[in-house]
Amino acid sequence: MSEKNTQLKVSAIKDGTVLDHIPAQNVFQVVDILDLIHSDKPVTIGSNLESKSLGRKGIIKIADRFFEDEELGRIALAAPDATVNIIRDYEVVSKKKIDLPSEVIGIAKCSNPMCVTNRQPVTTRFTTIVDHKKVKLLCHYCEKTTEEFIPLRH
Ligand code: CTP
Ligand code: ZN
Repeated sequence: MSEKNTQLKVSAIKDGTVLDHIPAQNVFQVVDILDLIHSDKPVTIGSNLESKSLGRKGIIKIADRFFEDEELGRIALAAPDATVNIIRDYEVVSKKKIDLPSEVIGIAKCSNPMCVTNRQPVTTRFTTIVDHKKVKLLCHYCEKTTEEFIPLRH
């Protein structure tokens, strides 16, 4: 049986960061959270690539840029299983998973329509809770638990 090769090729980079294993539907959320739209370094995005483990995945390569763990923690809700690869002179010199931060500030929306953060210009703030491997967000203001990550527009 012949099968079309639907996999896109995203070129290797010389130096920089490769974010791999991003859920296919969340690639552009990650782009948004890291504000890569304003990047002055080359960014290549592979969206909807085939993956053995995820079915479909996204990959983002940022040349000549190395992020602080705190910055990478911001993408934990959109890409909890992402792999962060550090590339130096074409070699993968480090590979690690994203750490879930204990607090999430200004990234997710509170699901409670009555919450002050949905009524006034107040930055959202949550404590993360892991329950049966799912991340839930406990709102600092209304104390309601948000079960699903709803990104804030900015
Ligand atoms: N990569 C890159 N440029 C390089 C080296 C690697 O863009 N010079 C990318 C690869 O395309 C891959 C990721 O960095 O998406 C990790 O590379 P590697 O560890 O070689 O790939 P895998 O073994 O497939 O990674 P994993 O086991 O994490 O799935
Ligand atoms: Zn709230």
